[in-house]
Amino acid sequence: MIKFDFKTYVRPFINQQQFDYLYNKKKEIIELLNKSDNIGWTRTIDEKTVKDIKETAKAIKKNYDCLVVVGIGGSFLGSYAFHHLFQSYFNDKSFEIIYAGTTLSSKYLDELLNYLQKKNFCINVISKSGSTMETIITYKLLKDALKRKYSEEEIRRRIIISTNKEKGFLREEVTNNHYKSFELPDDIGGRYSFITAAHLLPLSLNYNIDEIIDGYYDGKKLIDIAFEYAVIRRLLFNQQKAVENFCICEENMSPFTEWLKQLFGETEGKKGVGILPISTVYTRDLHSLGQFIQEGNKIIFETFIKVTNSNNFIEYNKEELHKINNLVLDSVMHAHFKGKVPCLEIEITEIDTESISSLIYFFMLSAAFSAYLFGLYPFDQPGVEVYKEEVRKALNQ
Ligand code: PA5
Repeated sequence: MIKFDFKTYVRPFINQQQFDYLYNKKKEIIELLNKSDNIGWTRTIDEKTVKDIKETAKAIKKNYDCLVVVGIGGSFLGSYAFHHLFQSYFNDKSFEIIYAGTTLSSKYLDELLNYLQKKNFCINVISKSGSTMETIITYKLLKDALKRKYSEEEIRRRIIISTNKEKGFLREEVTNNHYKSFELPDDIGGRYSFITAAHLLPLSLNYNIDEIIDGYYDGKKLIDIAFEYAVIRRLLFNQQKAVENFCICEENMSPFTEWLKQLFGETEGKKGVGILPISTVYTRDLHSLGQFIQEGNKIIFETFIKVTNSNNFIEYNKEELHKINNLVLDSVMHAHFKGKVPCLEIEITEIDTESISSLIYFFMLSAAFSAYLFGLYPFDQPGVEVYKEEVRKALNQ
């Protein structure tokens, strides 16, 4: 279950008339969203694709002991975040998944290639465009590593490509080499592609993807509260609150806040507006950014993601430690509110696959609504092209 408190520590900052004015745009904005050319993520995924994903995952588990997922940005962060939420800190027994493609660090890639020498691995390379520089470089390095170990026939079995249906380098790879591939739908962009093969294939190795899919579509019920969240963020922005701090109290939720940052950052950071998403892990960051948040420049508001119950029981002074952790979180909210920092609260009963998927849908809806409230198109990221052009020039390509 997911509960939202967008009142206690935020309503004193909100003018009711302004709230009503923006909230009344709900119908108009939902219509804009539904008419968009990038609305595939609200559509039910077809059963054929789900079956294909499950069968492919079964074959991976049977034949290999490790999957290397290659991708960057929206093409990998969803499954990466999800996976880390459920992994054990010290004694992880899940099917081994390594995420690569987000760095050109020689140290990382050299160590990865060395590590893989002794592994029976396969690759899932994911790129909607099929031509993202970091993804392609990593893919080529890994393919060379496979070539050093296996025949062409064997390599063919070990490469799975998720990309658009007709263009780009990766689609050519599929056509020329007859690799197994998944088509990423034209009307679903990277950061909105959680319920596509891009994320569901890596996830299906360790999780029941039927539950993930059900939870995701269950998130549709949260449409009104998603709109309310977008409206409140917009009104806070009007009061110079230009930074949203996503606050968590579990280290393994950090990749989830990375996913949130990417979702909101690319969706609404355009044309000189948008809210800068940042994140903190409490209590750790109370001893760093906590000072700034409490007493510094009042440009910040916070969204706390709280988990009611923990699966791990520890008693401290006759009290459950998890309860103490949540009490600390409540006190932090109170303290920051006193320091004129508006605090929104989202509380999930426990970290389970269905609730997390619903939350993912909720945030996607909110991010899209938020962009429309800024008068922006949510589904492009033209700013990202600027660095790519500079890189092309620098590399003389
Ligand atoms: O959310 C997005 O659309 C982007 O972050 C892309 O996912 C990212 O740039 C990678 O693009 P591609 O999937 O084309 O490799």
